[in-house]
Amino acid sequence: MPATTRHRRINAATATWLYVRLSALGMLALVLIHLAIMHLGDGRESIDARFVRDRVGRPLWLVFDIALLLLALTHGMAGLRGMAGDYLKSRRATTVFAWASAAVTAAFAALGTAVLIALH
Ligand code: HEM
Repeated sequence: MPATTRHRRINAATATWLYVRLSALGMLALVLIHLAIMHLGDGRESIDARFVRDRVGRPLWLVFDIALLLLALTHGMAGLRGMAGDYLKSRRATTVFAWASAAVTAAFAALGTAVLIALH
């Protein structure tokens, strides 16, 4: 196959490595906006239940909060998975860790998203 049409395949470790860095970039942007609004802007005086409810009540902020939650959760879990790949020696242990971390990620993603939607 000519070099120009050959597809380069990336393995799971490379994909995890890339995801940790891309999600870090995405998070950096959202975290700066979060800090500006919640801790320097409107929320500076008092962050109470009403402030949070009014904010999450707006569709754009609901999407923003869910995105930040999912990015932070998946970034942290992908980072842990990358570390596990470096330290765990047996293939079985790596597989068990991968499935367990996927289950924990899915459970917390569902719980966090459900809470934000319930507040909406
Ligand atoms: C805006 C916030 C954040 C930024 C910009 C960021 C950035 C990064 C970057 C660039 C790496 C790769 C470091 C390397 O391999 O040398 C990394 C790794 C990692 N991050 Fe984050 N991070 C952020 C928030 C978080 C949060 C909230 C968590 C936990 C939930 C977390 C957990 C981890 C873990 C476990 C690793 C893997 C560390 C390793 O491989 O030694 N990070 N982060």
